[in-house]
Amino acid sequence: MGESMRFEGKVAVVTGAGRGIGEEYAKALAREGAAVVVAELDADAGERVAKEIEQDGGKAVAVATDIANEDSTLGMAKAASDVFGGVDYLVNNAAIYGGMELHGLTTMPMSYWEKFMSVNMTGAVLCTRAVFGSMAERGGGAIVNQSSTAAWMGVGYYGIAKLALHGITGSFARELGPMNIRVNAIAPGPTDTEATRSTVDDSIIQGLLASMPLNRMGTPAELAGACLFLLSDDARWVTGHVLNVDGGQVMRV
Ligand SMILES: NC(=O)c1ccc[n+]([C@@H]2O[C@H](COP(=O)([O-])OP(=O)(O)OC[C@H]3O[C@@H](n4cnc5c(N)ncnc54)[C@H](O)[C@@H]3O)[C@@H](O)[C@H]2O)c1
Repeated sequence: MGESMRFEGKVAVVTGAGRGIGEEYAKALAREGAAVVVAELDADAGERVAKEIEQDGGKAVAVATDIANEDSTLGMAKAASDVFGGVDYLVNNAAIYGGMELHGLTTMPMSYWEKFMSVNMTGAVLCTRAVFGSMAERGGGAIVNQSSTAAWMGVGYYGIAKLALHGITGSFARELGPMNIRVNAIAPGPTDTEATRSTVDDSIIQGLLASMPLNRMGTPAELAGACLFLLSDDARWVTGHVLNVDGGQVMRV
């Protein structure tokens, strides 16, 4: 049992929870009592995480989901209702990140732009549309969108999609607020996951870290506290906010 059980009796969907930061979010929510829907494109990875949560005494189900496909997101929401009775929380964490192609905006194949945006931008819209009705029926809920400090760095399509997520966060915060659904975002700085190690050149990471007040990478566990805070009733008057969890990498002061 976790230190507190803020999500006892509640249902949380975490997309891209088959590894990395999403896995940590899913496990942290389960430790605080939530039944977790592991909505993951990689079915085997999702099954592993759901099984580990259950072995730890938590509740979880893996639902193979492609967040870029509307039918798939509707199927995910239906599975959440069939298995756990509905949805209270959504974490839009999934994105093309580990193994992503690296191109400039002038040189990227436009087919990759379309594919990338359909996941990293539109996916959060589709998942939100799929679950908000259930949240509203249950008296309200909360959503966290996983952004990145890359949103403010002018680093091409990865950052552009994250900046779009901020607009999506604000728009849904306004539209869903009257249903008592809060919508916020987290902007993590460089975080130590397998995806970061395999995708981002070490010299780029070292350059970023050198300029940061807390000059080390963050860990998924250090993001989970902020994610669970934004989902929880502790943040019940916080909506439309982007919370940096980044060792001071980007200061908006
Ligand atoms: N690691 C970092 O330094 C860092 C920093 C800031 C933000 N982020 C963001 O945090 C999130 C997780 O990062 P990570 O390091 O764990 O990355 P990761 O690549 O390990 O995890 C992403 C997960 O999303 C899944 N996924 C990809 N496309 C999907 C789709 N269409 N439908 C469903 N699932 C899909 C992948 O299979 C994978 O399990 C991403 O949104 C990333 O952009 C990461």
